[in-house]
Amino acid sequence: MDIKLIQAQIETDLANAISPQLLEELRVKYLGRKGLIAELTASIPTLAAQERGAFGREVNGLKSKLLTLFAEKEKNLTGSIQGEINNNIDIGMPGIAPTLGSVHPITQIIDEICGIFTRMGFCVVEGPEVETENNNFTGLNIPLEHPSRDAFDTFYLKDYPKLLLRSHTSPVQVRAMKAHKPPLAIVVPGRVYRPDAVDASHLFMFHQIEGFLVDENIRFSDLKGTLSLFAKSVFGRDIKMRFRPHFFPFTEPSAEVDISCIICKGKGCSVCGRKGWLEILGAGMIHPNVFKHVGYDPEKYTGFAFGMGIERIAMLKYGINDIRLFFENDLRFLNQF
Ligand code: PHE
Repeated sequence: MDIKLIQAQIETDLANAISPQLLEELRVKYLGRKGLIAELTASIPTLAAQERGAFGREVNGLKSKLLTLFAEKEKNLTGSIQGEINNNIDIGMPGIAPTLGSVHPITQIIDEICGIFTRMGFCVVEGPEVETENNNFTGLNIPLEHPSRDAFDTFYLKDYPKLLLRSHTSPVQVRAMKAHKPPLAIVVPGRVYRPDAVDASHLFMFHQIEGFLVDENIRFSDLKGTLSLFAKSVFGRDIKMRFRPHFFPFTEPSAEVDISCIICKGKGCSVCGRKGWLEILGAGMIHPNVFKHVGYDPEKYTGFAFGMGIERIAMLKYGINDIRLFFENDLRFLNQF
């Protein structure tokens, strides 16, 4: 039996042992109680007397050699970096980078605008998207014959009691005023719904932020100051603002508020329809009938309210020309924000 050949075979086996489990299998095979070394040792007495001495020494030599080789191999395999390399794991290989999501542009604008108002002392409040006809219309002094109550302009869900998808965030005015006494300073972000035909500037669902403030001695100039700070924070210090007389049933006086065109700076371009101004929101002093409906004394309290469309603000701020882009979930679009 050629001990040298056996040792060479064992060395090859050891080199191929790439895990502690495989090494253990080899240990049992060669050094175990019924392993090769034990077998060779047991065969010594069967040899011719003159061969025993030399063969015995060779087997002993092999055994101590194997003990060293196994010990070294074990050290290499367990835990160390060397072990990893022996395990054929390429620790230099770059990992797989996880795809990170990001905040939707509409949510970014909502966060930014709510941040501006909370720094002025407003609270953020939310309301349900399914509303009563009373909160969406009646409580806001919107008369029964008003066209916005028409089924062409509002999604109705149920006849009695009349439930609908809110067509603006103003019903949260009614909810908040019924729940709390003045002073109140609240902003309300949220989704609203209108059965509009979908095109580049209309969707059946969009987002608004409502704001209102009620206390004693609140004047129109408070509204102007608040909105002016808001517009400059969102669009920059140089932005100009103007109030155009308008009508809303729940405010009196009412206004539509424009900012100087952020593209042409007021000179007139295709974005502002050559007017130099862009409409960004509706506003006004809260109508006494709204106060009466919620049980506030209109002689004692005054307040202002405003409401703006978020998609429109986001489109102006980022130069987006189609509202549908926000909701198509196209990553080529969303990744830019
Ligand atoms: N609710 C109005 C709209 O959706 C906006 C508005 C809110 C106007 C508050 C005045 C005061 O058009």
